[in-house]
Amino acid sequence: MPKLLDPWDHHDWSSKDYVSQWAERQDEREVDREEIFHLMAKTLSSDPGVALDILDLGAGYGALAQFLLNHFPNAKAVCQDGSAEMAKLGGKRMEALKGRFKYVLCDFSKPGWSRKIKGSFNAVVSSIAIHNVREPDIIRSIYAETFSLVNPGGYFLNFDRMTPSQEDQLTWLKEAGFANVKCFWDGGRRALLGGYKK
Ligand SMILES: C[S@@+](CC[C@H](N)C(=O)[O-])C[C@H]1O[C@@H](n2cnc3c(N)ncnc32)[C@H](O)[C@@H]1O
Repeated sequence: MPKLLDPWDHHDWSSKDYVSQWAERQDEREVDREEIFHLMAKTLSSDPGVALDILDLGAGYGALAQFLLNHFPNAKAVCQDGSAEMAKLGGKRMEALKGRFKYVLCDFSKPGWSRKIKGSFNAVVSSIAIHNVREPDIIRSIYAETFSLVNPGGYFLNFDRMTPSQEDQLTWLKEAGFANVKCFWDGGRRALLGGYKK
């Protein structure tokens, strides 16, 4: 029997209508990932007062950045995304955090994207975004470029779909230069992977 395509597997992140429908649909599920966001925060630091510089890759409307900025009231965030519509929506949804975040628009599937992001970060995080590029070699190169954006002592944590396999992605994180690479949470289809920069 042919596999039915999930219409939500084909995203049009440049469309205002698609982005607002996706965000509305995601709102109903937001509670499901609070536990993972919490685990990410606890992994980054046990001290909520720490002044983290955070980069959220493929931030969308900023669900993860917003969670972390609320958890760490002295933190600041750069929200990177390729979609101007997501950035507009994020600007509205994070109005209450104005001054503590900014958006950078760039496409992380294109080599050299990391140079568009000025600065380096104690915490580079990502949620359900990097798999969108689909090509294993591109995911591998995103991990390699991400390494250059992490401060020594900082973390990269990626909560994402495990396509390609978790094993491959752990290997690419190690190849990129991260230490203590591991799976922090395993939900089967999705997992939280990451590593530390010595
Ligand atoms: C499924 S949404 C997740 C958004 C957000 N991280 C969250 O968890 O709610 C995927 C996001 O990745 C962004 N994205 C997809 N491909 C991208 C690319 N090549 N470069 C930058 N952002 C991209 C989309 O614009 C979208 O905002």
